[in-house]
Amino acid sequence: MVKVYLNYINGKWVKSSSGKTFEKINPATGEVLFHCQAGNAKDVELSVKAAKEAFKKWKFVPPPKKGEILFKAAQILEKRKEELAILLTKENGKNLEEARGEVQEAIDITKYVAGEGRRLLGETTTSELPDKFAMFIREPKGVIGIITPWNFPIAIPAWKIPAALVAGNTIVFKPSSDAPACGIELVKILEEAGIPPGVLNLVTGSGEAVGDTIAKHPDIAHLSFTGSTDVGKHIYIEGAKKLNSVELEMGGKNPQIVLADADLDLAVDGALWGAFGTAGQRCTATSRIILEKPIAKKFTDKFLKRVKKLKVGNGLKGAQVGPIINEKQMTKILGYIEKGKKEGAKLLCGGYRLSDPQHKKGFFIAPTVFANVRPHMTIAQEEIFGPVVCLMEAKDFEEAIEIANSVKYGLSWSIYTKDINKAMKAMRLAESGIVYINAPTIGAEVHLPFGGVKGTGNGGREAGSEAIKEFTEIKTVFIDYSGRLQRAQIDIE
Ligand code: UN1
Repeated sequence: MVKVYLNYINGKWVKSSSGKTFEKINPATGEVLFHCQAGNAKDVELSVKAAKEAFKKWKFVPPPKKGEILFKAAQILEKRKEELAILLTKENGKNLEEARGEVQEAIDITKYVAGEGRRLLGETTTSELPDKFAMFIREPKGVIGIITPWNFPIAIPAWKIPAALVAGNTIVFKPSSDAPACGIELVKILEEAGIPPGVLNLVTGSGEAVGDTIAKHPDIAHLSFTGSTDVGKHIYIEGAKKLNSVELEMGGKNPQIVLADADLDLAVDGALWGAFGTAGQRCTATSRIILEKPIAKKFTDKFLKRVKKLKVGNGLKGAQVGPIINEKQMTKILGYIEKGKKEGAKLLCGGYRLSDPQHKKGFFIAPTVFANVRPHMTIAQEEIFGPVVCLMEAKDFEEAIEIANSVKYGLSWSIYTKDINKAMKAMRLAESGIVYINAPTIGAEVHLPFGGVKGTGNGGREAGSEAIKEFTEIKTVFIDYSGRLQRAQIDIE
């Protein structure tokens, strides 16, 4: 019997009113893993209603108490780490070591944000008038819509949900249909830890039926979205129509610069991990390696040798590079590879689907390296989101920076050099939300802000000391204890 996951609405696990489910397959093997509810507008409606009602009480639960629930959730996550990692590998495809790392990321952010229960800092300041007190405090926004992607099916929901909860919001959550189970398990864990009915609601289903209804719903006060640029733009427009706040985390086209003085072996290690970790399906993945001319050949030789040795396959069976999430994505990536060849880039390795008996039931693409890539080419400009990396050459430091910045995205950015002056200059010149010196473009830590500039986002940051901001409104408060009318800007003598 295949497992059937339910929706979670107003504290109850229920079937969708559509009466339909959809199946989810393992992208490495093609086996059916489970079914989920094919949610619809009515499910969303019930969830928003429950969340709106629950908000009235949850808002005033003391934040340290909310934090206690989150600490408990983190403990349950810790206890279930291995089992969740296996589920993650099955539904997403990333290998078990990376899956464990991702569950750890969910544990870390849940703990970090739980501590916010005793902070949620506002500010007190002075007043220009005597016997007057001035401050601002943070308050929840209300019902939050949370829509998350498949590439980090537990970490990204964990960046958003605990932060929104500790700040006092209630939630309608839609995980990606391509990897919904980890998000559902996270909801179960939060329920077990003590989140009251109605505070956190979950509806699985398609973007059209569920996501769109959430985005357009008049009672959704804020929408937090991580995913593709196309969907993000659509959600932003829907939010604008209602004058809602919307926070978007979208694509990347992340560069790793390698200067002539760099430790080449270190740079190769970084490039391999940055480009082919999670089969390149990270918004932080390294997708362009910009080599200073004098070391271009040497780096390329070393790098290629390592790429060719990468083990592609089932992440539960020791593979380093797992499958592509689904057939549609695989076809899209193969389309980019064809475009790369047509536009004159030189294919050095990979570039095809693995179709031998061991791989043919899954969606595997051989790790792919292109050389002679020029900045204007499609593969140098668009996010590929797969195991494909572009090698580009630069004549010097300045040209390397220019190429690195010549894309519409700005999420993660890396440079390898031993020259401290160049490293510091690069840090300032990078048009990017995150910069790494002598480290790859992937692997952000949860206690630092995460997010990007340019086409990557719309200005906000997740995690770190910024985690709470997205989910709070500021209320400015003046308390006049003079007992007389005092007029700001006028009675200042
Ligand atoms: C993403 O790719 O969507 O920095 C998130 C990293 C991870 C998070 C990536 N900690 O690569």
